[in-house]
Amino acid sequence: MNFKIPRGTQDILPGKVELWQYVEEKARDLCRRYNYKEIRTPIFEQTELFMRGVGDTTDIVQKEMYTFEDRGGRSLTLRPEGTASTVRSFVENKLFGNPIQPTKLYYIGPMFRYERPQSGRMRQFVQFGVEALGSSDPTIDAEVIALAMEFYRELGLKNLKLVINSLGDTESRNAHREALVQHFQPRIEEFCSDCQARLAKNPLRILDCKKDRDHELMATAPAILDYLNEESTNYFEKVKKLLTDMGISFEVDPNLVRGLDYYNNTAFEIMIDGDGFGSITTLSGGGRYNGLVQEIGGPETPGIGFALSIERLLMALEVQNISLPVTEKIDCYVIALGEEAKLAGANISFKLRQAGFSCDQDYLDKKMKAQMKAADRFQATYVLIIGDSELEQNVVVVKEMATGEQQEVALDQITDYLLEKMNL
Ligand code: HAM
Repeated sequence: MNFKIPRGTQDILPGKVELWQYVEEKARDLCRRYNYKEIRTPIFEQTELFMRGVGDTTDIVQKEMYTFEDRGGRSLTLRPEGTASTVRSFVENKLFGNPIQPTKLYYIGPMFRYERPQSGRMRQFVQFGVEALGSSDPTIDAEVIALAMEFYRELGLKNLKLVINSLGDTESRNAHREALVQHFQPRIEEFCSDCQARLAKNPLRILDCKKDRDHELMATAPAILDYLNEESTNYFEKVKKLLTDMGISFEVDPNLVRGLDYYNNTAFEIMIDGDGFGSITTLSGGGRYNGLVQEIGGPETPGIGFALSIERLLMALEVQNISLPVTEKIDCYVIALGEEAKLAGANISFKLRQAGFSCDQDYLDKKMKAQMKAADRFQATYVLIIGDSELEQNVVVVKEMATGEQQEVALDQITDYLLEKMNL
């Protein structure tokens, strides 16, 4: 029987994994500068958490969750996103009680959605996301958006488009909701069964429907921006001013609704323009979710965050021909020839690794030429050669691969010699 990897998942092999490590390191460094701390939550949670958090009229909950019953009869779900889990943990661990607020958190980890796989759309994908809980100041909205944009900018991505919208506060949303019902109700039978159900439960979701997106009523649907009350309007104006002052350009798209139910006020997505992206042009998305903490059983606490997938980021870097400065080079390769020399060679590798060098050696009794080839393949900076005659004299031949320069070095001086040579 031949086993195959599940559809919509991927193996990340050496040669590619270095790119992942590089961008993850970038994300961590950015979060350090913005003072967001890492949080790690379980891969699976109670199903109910996502039904409540993400919203039971969303595609994610209705069609895309990996839900299963464990042996104890509990319904569990592989997390489709990171916000609900982060908020659950914030509430359960009473992080709202910490003296310093807002609580600024980030995560990097796999998420699972049963979607139709295509380039940039996976069933298992890795999200880098941040969540700031405990402030409803527009400065934090701008900060979260800036962090997302800076991440891409620092990696060298071009042609980014930041699209923002305001979904308003509860009062504005209720007014908009009523207008949507009036707009769609008379012709709702022309829409799919999902949309018909959405009309009563959550008409905003109709605007996000993939099946009915070309229906003529979609283009003329009332836009939330026309229903914002004064407070929501002022809030949105402040976010826009902050972004403008930071030199971050954006477009306002009144049709941006996002695919999750918890949003209000600020919503945003970062898109990428240009050829080569197919239908997937959204790199990341986020927004404000002021009611979510309460929905999940915590005290009334505002929140905002965003998430992006590393898959889409790497795809964008590839399309734009941006190569990251990653290296698989090693410092030293030890070539040992002969039984006795092999023992000594293994000990040299051990000492070099202990001193902090990356070091490898032959394990298959290869000939000198094949060992040299391996050293080349690993792009070793130095090759250390030890045979019986070197062993007798207690020396090793050290060859600097870039110059071809060779030097005999006493066995007990090797580490010091290389430390000095490599300026460590
Ligand atoms: P989302 O828009 O569902 O939002 O996903 C955010 C990002 O995750 C997308 O823009 C995309 O980069 C990536 N993504 C989503 N689905 C897939 C997939 N099937 N394959 C590859 N990448 C994917 C959220 O998840 C919210 N939790 C974001 C947020 C955080 N809002 C507030 N805080």
